[in-house]
Amino acid sequence: MSPVLSVRELVVSFTTRDGPVTAVAGVSFDVGRGEVLGLVGESGSGKSVTGLAVLGLIDPPGQITRGSIRLEGEELVGRPEDELRRLRGRRLAMIFQDPMNTLNPVLRIDTQMIEAIWAHERVSEKAARDRACRALMQVGIPSPEERLRAYPHQFSGGMRQRVAIATALLHRPAVLIADEPTTALDVTIQSQILSEVQQLCEESGTAMVWITHDLSVIAGLADRVAVMYAGRIVETGSVADTLEHPLHPYTAGLIGSVPSRNRRGEPLAQIPGMTPSLANLPPGCPFAPRCSYATATCRGIMPDAVEIQAGRNVRCHYPLGVVAPEAA
Ligand SMILES: Nc1ncnc2c1ncn2[C@@H]1O[C@H](COP(=O)(O)OP(=O)(O)OP(=O)(O)O)[C@@H](O)[C@H]1O
Ligand code: SF4
Ligand SMILES: [Mg+2]
Repeated sequence: MSPVLSVRELVVSFTTRDGPVTAVAGVSFDVGRGEVLGLVGESGSGKSVTGLAVLGLIDPPGQITRGSIRLEGEELVGRPEDELRRLRGRRLAMIFQDPMNTLNPVLRIDTQMIEAIWAHERVSEKAARDRACRALMQVGIPSPEERLRAYPHQFSGGMRQRVAIATALLHRPAVLIADEPTTALDVTIQSQILSEVQQLCEESGTAMVWITHDLSVIAGLADRVAVMYAGRIVETGSVADTLEHPLHPYTAGLIGSVPSRNRRGEPLAQIPGMTPSLANLPPGCPFAPRCSYATATCRGIMPDAVEIQAGRNVRCHYPLGVVAPEAA
């Protein structure tokens, strides 16, 4: 089945005082109907910029300089702003870390949800209210009729995020971009919300990109994972395979240890060093300064993305458990 969202060789650059910065440097991924892709990486790796690009929300000094973003086969890059605005909220939806960015503090929840429905559909107030009520119920909000009359500040952080999610999913969007929506919440609540949203996406066929810096949040919940480092996806695969047998040393570092069947070294308790400055990337593999397996080849030549097996890609000269550095 063809993917709902297909991103190819996406490049996003910013003009800064220190010159141009390539925040996203050739990112490609697909998300299918009802599928959840976890987009994971440390701060500054380009996750949010990737999400914003899909939503058509890159504004100057940023710019999509290359690549393609297809929504159900239709190209989004280069579309006029008014067309993209119409798509947002209906076919493309988003949730961000702070739900107060999407919820209006001075309006009751019912007013906001009904307005969100009316922005794209002409239905009666009763039909809109019923839909809003059902949507709140689906995200686990008890007594939704009563809660609809409340204001955002009368909800806990987790409940507020659930309202934002319910609002984002009102139109059964084709794609939902969730940018660290639960980071501020307790880990148990994060997993609970992700599991509910995953179920909703599966039911409605929505393709979701769940952005997080914390691999443990998506463990067991997302279907596939894409790991980003310095503006590139360095590894993709099913969540189960990737967590069990990471191929990229950076992924292994994020997980916190290299699997024991890999005899190449001690477990990495944490990744040493800092994320590189994008304005000043080293030649070769951008992870080399922090990688305990780096060789002269790594420091000189940027590794290409290689498919190790169906659906598993890695951008490393010596994928863990596949190629030993000394053999190369
Ligand atoms: N408005 C901007 N102007 C200039 N550079 C920017 C701008 N927005 C992003 N960048 C550049 O893009 C890089 C990636 O930013 P992005 O917000 O995508 O990171 P992230 O992976 O979402 O990190 P975090 O986990 O902190 O949210 C930044 O480090 C910065 O160099
Ligand atoms: S290419 Fe080399 S430096 Fe980069 S991650 Fe792989 S082993 Fe480490
Ligand atoms: Mg971000």
